[in-house]
Amino acid sequence: MTVKLVVGTQWGDEGKGKVVDYFSKDADYVVRFQGGNNAGHTIKVGDEVYKLHVTPSGVIQGKTGVIGNGVVLDPEILINEINNLKKRGIKPELLISDRTNIIMPYHKILDGADEKYLGDKKIGTTKRGIGPCYSDKISRNGIRAIDLIDKETLSKKLDLILPIKQRIFNAYEIKEKLNKKEILETYSKYGEELKSFVTTTHIKLNKAIEQNKNILLEGAQGVMLDVDFGTYPYTTSSHVIAGGSTIGTGIGPQHIDEIIGIVKAYTTRVGEGPLPTELFDEIGEHLQKVGHEFGTTTSRPRRCGWLDLVVLKHSCMISGITKLAITKLDVLNGLDKVKICTHYNLDGKKINYFPANIEDVKKCEPVYKEFKGWEDIDNASTSFSDLPKQAQEYLKFIEKELKTPIAIVSIGPGRSETIEV
Ligand code: GDP
Ligand code: IMO
Ligand code: MG
Repeated sequence: MTVKLVVGTQWGDEGKGKVVDYFSKDADYVVRFQGGNNAGHTIKVGDEVYKLHVTPSGVIQGKTGVIGNGVVLDPEILINEINNLKKRGIKPELLISDRTNIIMPYHKILDGADEKYLGDKKIGTTKRGIGPCYSDKISRNGIRAIDLIDKETLSKKLDLILPIKQRIFNAYEIKEKLNKKEILETYSKYGEELKSFVTTTHIKLNKAIEQNKNILLEGAQGVMLDVDFGTYPYTTSSHVIAGGSTIGTGIGPQHIDEIIGIVKAYTTRVGEGPLPTELFDEIGEHLQKVGHEFGTTTSRPRRCGWLDLVVLKHSCMISGITKLAITKLDVLNGLDKVKICTHYNLDGKKINYFPANIEDVKKCEPVYKEFKGWEDIDNASTSFSDLPKQAQEYLKFIEKELKTPIAIVSIGPGRSETIEV
């Protein structure tokens, strides 16, 4: 029995989908534990490309996908994903926690309104209703999966919640009127469709552990988007870090055997907020173009920069990462020099930790160590020693600085373009 956890170490889009798909071959259950359809996880199998937003990536390998209690679930999106997968010959096996909070129509409207209100101080959210749904969960005004399958309870909850939301709409000068009957009918129908999946996933997963099954926990986003340890307030609204997986599944921390940190070989970010190693030159353009750095969820261009060890040390510490998976190494092919940020200068002082004050983060100047580049990586490489010597040097430096072994090097989006170290 193993419980493996995959977490993003940067600002998301590190290639978690690809790595989760790779590890799924040995898993019985693949579990999403936080976030919602703000995520976009890409899996490439041969010529087929799957982009999943809320369905756990393991379903592509035919494994049971679990949507944990820590997720915020937009039922319409999940139903669409299930139907699209069915059309492509995959009938996903799914379980949904009865405690999972549901993204309601007013959450999506309020996400947009908050962003409009913030103007040039906006977060750059995905506008999927994530923040407002988590806010309602914490303030105990949430609708949970279990409520969708009990029309009477849902009706009573809507009677309490909708008038308050309508008042907030008025404050934001939103013209839309919330129609209780319509919402009740639509969401009860979603409940009917998803009813057979809704269950006590925390009990099922703990039983699976007793029965020596393998569980893979699939993180969304990345540590720098964590609501406590990321670049607050330019973060998402969930606990992205490893600790979020125990909150979001009901699996005790003692069961987790391996924590795999996914590290893109450079840095990207979608949305607003500081990115200390951001590049505004032709190298930034190279990374964006060669890495196809456009958001999987919103198609926005991703901002690009060099790898940042201050970020990665922070992530390894906060998430207790035991192994690294380095992705997209091939995107650095053909560059004369590659750089890694080793520390920052802040107000003339060297710092090697990530500041809490966002105004300090904005002032951080990255200091780089330079490495020789390499021409090409043969995408049929199967071992570390097949990689160009300069690429090996680059990876060994990361491993040494992070004091964490590299277990996987990904050299292309496909399943086979993966080296086990
Ligand atoms: P996630 O959100 O962490 O799952 O990452 P995304 O799927 O949003 O973005 C990662 C993108 O990089 C996807 O288009 C993947 O197909 C692609 N990708 C993953 N690993 C590699 C790799 O090693 N090399 C290249 N060139 N592309 C990769
Ligand atoms: P995956 O799982 C990259 C970013 C948004 C925005 C901020 C808050 O594919 O790595 P939200 O809608 O969550 O309130 O937006 O977080 N963001 C992501 N960026 N990858 C993601 O997920 C993201 N999910 C949210 O762009 O800056
Ligand atoms: Mg993504």
